[in-house]
Amino acid sequence: MAKMWAGVTAGNTDQTADALNSSIAFDCRMARQDIQGSIAHAKMLGARGILPAEDAETLVKGLEELLQDLASGALEIDMKSEDIHMFVEQELTRRLGDVGKKLHTARSRNDQVALDLRLYLREEIRETEGLVRDLMAALLEQAKAHKSDIMPGYTHLQRAQPISFGHHLLAYCMMLQRDLGRLEDTKKRMNVSPIGCCALAGTTYDTDRRMEAALLGFDEIALNSLDGVSDRDFCLELLSALSVLMMHLSRLSEELILWASWEFKFIELSDAYTTGSSIMPQKRNADMAELTRGKTGRVYGDLMGLLTTLKGLPLAYNKDMQEDKEAVFDALDTVKLCLRVFAPMIRTMRPLPENMLAAARGGFINATDLADYLTRKGLPFRSAYKLSGQLVAKCMAEGKVLEGLSLEEYKSFSPLFEEDLYREIDIRTCMEKRISEGGTSLKSVEAQIAYIEAVLDQ
Ligand code: ARG
Repeated sequence: MAKMWAGVTAGNTDQTADALNSSIAFDCRMARQDIQGSIAHAKMLGARGILPAEDAETLVKGLEELLQDLASGALEIDMKSEDIHMFVEQELTRRLGDVGKKLHTARSRNDQVALDLRLYLREEIRETEGLVRDLMAALLEQAKAHKSDIMPGYTHLQRAQPISFGHHLLAYCMMLQRDLGRLEDTKKRMNVSPIGCCALAGTTYDTDRRMEAALLGFDEIALNSLDGVSDRDFCLELLSALSVLMMHLSRLSEELILWASWEFKFIELSDAYTTGSSIMPQKRNADMAELTRGKTGRVYGDLMGLLTTLKGLPLAYNKDMQEDKEAVFDALDTVKLCLRVFAPMIRTMRPLPENMLAAARGGFINATDLADYLTRKGLPFRSAYKLSGQLVAKCMAEGKVLEGLSLEEYKSFSPLFEEDLYREIDIRTCMEKRISEGGTSLKSVEAQIAYIEAVLDQ
């Protein structure tokens, strides 16, 4: 195919070289943004008298028609083009004739691609945020329904202290809220316009970069042209925000997988999100959670890949940078797909509170409360801790639970024990007494619910 950039070279590159060089297969996603950027550019060229007003108008009209045809499906992208920028300009010129060739005045593909990508990612972030919020809403619904259900809380995956299942789910809401914050921050630094930086050094034309930026909804313009065309920090920031988000989904996945196992049986995932085995008919596999956990590695890979691509690049644009798009597109596609599955999977998940409670009763998770009881009666905490440990050891040896020992047995360990100890080590009391702000008591869980509701209302 004839190259628009045929100048000092003939432009007749080898076919396999074309395959390596071409980016249309993935940058075709930015067709709309490319045309929108060109509309702003044409308007600016007209407003500054760089192009005659009627030429600018013709260009804008032609580009608007391209936009309409793109939306209706009438415009088919030619996959033999080198990239989306070349395709749009070629198609415009095919439709408008010579005036189409004027569009690329005071512009380069280097600032154009940086612009398109920022416009595209800005929208993608908004969509991703919506999906994160939907997952938060799903977790919140379950947290509300199960705010009083007791489960064992774990450290080192060993039963530790009783907590509310709602409290556990709300921890993920807090993580996701920070993920929203990170995505918003990314958007702030992304929303800076590179258009007008041209190839690398700016332009000799009397352009108005701020007009273009305003037309496209940017907050600022890049203040150094070399930086404007070379900066891909916004891709890295987005990839790191997405990596942290995936890490959170992966931790939740791990818990869902454990909880859905026969060993725990704290939840049942709906059939819609469970797979069977081709050989073992009894299997209910949490494949969606496993895949999300697995795909987390892939998103980290996108981040590491782009960091590595960029690390040795001299200023300004280098073709290596074409690699940015596949990394961010892949990460976004992956994250959005996982989120789209996760929200309904959480909504339809069936918690099994009786199993959680049974597990909570089994692991001496009221041993801290027993020590606290003695401490309140005047024993120093370290001594109380030791005594409580001895009582647990006795129970283990005799196959009992702390609630099952008689008062005489308790008294043989310390005269401080009285009848009221049973109320204190009741699992529900243990949970309810954790009244410190952010703790697992009902009041605190309700405060968290109200907080997340307010976040989602914004
Ligand atoms: N397809 C290219 C990219 O994605 C567009 C910029 C090309 N610039 C250049 N000087 N060849 O990076």
